[in-house]
Amino acid sequence: MPLLEAAAITKSFAGVRALKGVSFELLEGEVHALVGENGAGKSTLIKVMTGALTPDSGVLKVSGHVVAHHSPAVARSLGIAAVYQQPALFAHLTVAENIAISLESAGLWRKVDWKGRAAQARELLERAGSSLRPERLVATLSMPEQQIVEIAKAIGANAKILILDEPTASLESHEVESLFQVIATLRARGVGIIYISHRLEEIAAIADRVTVLRDGHTVDTRNRGEMDRAELIRMMVGREVSAIFPKRDVPIGGVVLETRGLGSRAAGVREVSIAVKSGEILGLAGLVGSGRTQLAETLFGLTPADSGEILLRGRAVRIASPDQAIAARIGYVPEDRRQHGVVLEMAIASNTSMASLGAVSRNGMIDTGLERQLARSYVERLRIKTPSIYSEAGSLSGGNQQKVALARWLAIRPAVLILDEPTQGVDVGSKAEIHKIMVDLAEQGVAIIMISSELPEILGMSDRIAVMHAGKVAGVLSREESTQHRIMALALGDVG
Ligand SMILES: Nc1ncnc2c1ncn2[C@@H]1O[C@H](COP(=O)(O)OP(=O)(O)OP(=O)(O)O)[C@@H](O)[C@H]1O
Ligand SMILES: [Mg+2]
Repeated sequence: MPLLEAAAITKSFAGVRALKGVSFELLEGEVHALVGENGAGKSTLIKVMTGALTPDSGVLKVSGHVVAHHSPAVARSLGIAAVYQQPALFAHLTVAENIAISLESAGLWRKVDWKGRAAQARELLERAGSSLRPERLVATLSMPEQQIVEIAKAIGANAKILILDEPTASLESHEVESLFQVIATLRARGVGIIYISHRLEEIAAIADRVTVLRDGHTVDTRNRGEMDRAELIRMMVGREVSAIFPKRDVPIGGVVLETRGLGSRAAGVREVSIAVKSGEILGLAGLVGSGRTQLAETLFGLTPADSGEILLRGRAVRIASPDQAIAARIGYVPEDRRQHGVVLEMAIASNTSMASLGAVSRNGMIDTGLERQLARSYVERLRIKTPSIYSEAGSLSGGNQQKVALARWLAIRPAVLILDEPTQGVDVGSKAEIHKIMVDLAEQGVAIIMISSELPEILGMSDRIAVMHAGKVAGVLSREESTQHRIMALALGDVG
């Protein structure tokens, strides 16, 4: 008997039929991958399973019993735990407190015992493969660290059914390894695991079965090994998509942005000297915590430099705030799009035009026609799934929100564009399109700095690669001399 069964589930939101009759089944001790394009309905389906959303119709059964009045509390009592796509932690509390609250409210830890809480949290974090300190305040954690805390919470819940919605989107390869070990252990104990990811290598590595969703329908469920990568992509996207990055060689011009001995004590960035030329894509590689995002934040004026220099086309400039960065035509798409990327309450159209109001204005007034054109062109190119360009960004699926954040900065035609994990959480088809847009921008003379934790992406897209370690640039490699091995060696701080 399946652990969990969803039959003919439908769910609509104002104007959007997110699920149009989805069926899905999870067995004991299996890892069942759920894949599909951005907006296919994956997160909506799991929210129905966790009682966070009530379906319009359809039946949900757990261990053969129909779940009649579903709710998050019922889900917990049935042994369903989920790690959602967006971490939802209390920022002003510590890691240990966050873990304790979730387990205590689930009735798993009744007595508040502060010492015990820290020890328990540490143990769960260790099981999740992390050495994060339980006394850290969540507000100070990076996205990947928050994700680890969510995973620790789910492990602590001792669930029979564990749902992971893109748990690895912001994790480093060794963290992914530890997570896979945790998954293997749980699966051996009979836990059923639903695994959502856009990284097809991961699916090939751990899934026993794969269910493909497209446009709110179940396309098919197959055993791993019953289809290859190309077929899987075809089922998801409904068309052929090249998985090879379309990096074209474009003319490379003069240096646009240069740093000399740049440092920011607050950001932990030290003595960074790099240069990026017009038409060039400079990859920034390194482990999570190596200072890549911090360097980007320093260049964008979020944590201004306190030593060294920034030069734009050879002239020293001071960038003490994002406003000054934007005035200098530096664009930045941050990794944590919720914090500085998209305004969830605002329409897609206004999000897209927000940083390029000049281009869509006439006589100081926003020309709604121009704004509409701009938004429509990006919605089409990036395949943003939405009923209208006037829908709130917050109503979009996770990957589609990422695309809106990108569109805003692609639209400003910056001189320098800094992209932090530009294709994280984005489906394969859109990923290829984003890479194409990056090359188009380079061809128009934009200098691009791309942070990515995916080595194939770094290797495929970069003209040169700066590898960071402990807040410094450990080395810069040309496209020709870069290999996965050399990048890793520099990232780990091995000299030579
Ligand atoms: N609260 C909401 N209001 C309106 N529409 C919504 C809401 N939540 C989801 N949708 C819509 O439902 C559809 C399915 O979204 P869902 O989040 O399930 O996609 P997904 O498969 O998880 O995509 P992704 O890979 O981008 O995370 C999308 O078109 C989305 O815009
Ligand atoms: Mg989702």
